Amino acid sequence: RKRCIRISTGSKQLDAALNGGFQTMSINEVYGEFRCGKTQLAHTMAVIAQLPKEMGGAEGKVAYIDTEGTFRPERIMEIAERFGVDPDQACENIAYARAQNTEMQTELLDGLAANFATNEYRLLVIDSVMSLYRTDYVGRGELSERQQVLGQFLRRATQMAEEFNLVVLMTNQVMSDPGASALFAGVDGRKPAGGHILAHASTTRLLLRKGRGEERVAKIVDSPDCPEREATYIITTGGIND
Ligand code: GTP
Ligand code: MG
Repeated sequence: RKRCIRISTGSKQLDAALNGGFQTMSINEVYGEFRCGKTQLAHTMAVIAQLPKEMGGAEGKVAYIDTEGTFRPERIMEIAERFGVDPDQACENIAYARAQNTEMQTELLDGLAANFATNEYRLLVIDSVMSLYRTDYVGRGELSERQQVLGQFLRRATQMAEEFNLVVLMTNQVMSDPGASALFAGVDGRKPAGGHILAHASTTRLLLRKGRGEERVAKIVDSPDCPEREATYIITTGGIND
């Protein structure tokens, strides 16, 4: 039987709120407004996943699907230095792919099955999960088709998380358009994109927002084993920290 592992976020406070970090065999969704640190968290965890377990890692390789073109190897190298690991090695342990449309996003996920079958991988990042769906399927007329295709993608990701003992980390945007938000019965403007299909697929959801000055705040919104609580973190050259 596979044993569940937790991977640290880089922030002790946030880890504590998550009972030690994000769990393998689950889909973890991090959403929030721009510049709140979703991509920085993805970079930080892409390094930490490689570390020994004593350091909050999983001694694993990482797969990174980038839909927005915001992956930066230089950031990986800076974060690697914080943890005292070889920067080039840290980059080599990340299988990176850029998706240009939703079809490619699905193909890349399927293609990663071969990587995951080696049992060397412990983290799959999808940054961000909804952006291409939102550009490929425009308007209400295409919404039901979009949700159907999205559902297939999420089922595959869930299956892979369980079969290959992976933390799946998905970032997501919040919908600022009140019309779109109303579609999913959200009125507070802080609804993640993806509707109930994504909400249902995510084991743990984390809402990020800007706090005072450099501070950022993460709120655990939906978790099977953590109460709804908040933690603060900062973004540094070495990634997410306290
Ligand atoms: P969107 O993708 O636009 O929705 O935003 P995001 O949530 O992915 O934000 P991201 O993770 O890109 O965070 C951007 C923030 O990280 C900005 O406030 C940057 O100032 C900060 N940041 C990025 N790189 C560094 C760095 O090397 N050092 C420090 N201190 N901050 C950084
Ligand atoms: Mg981003």
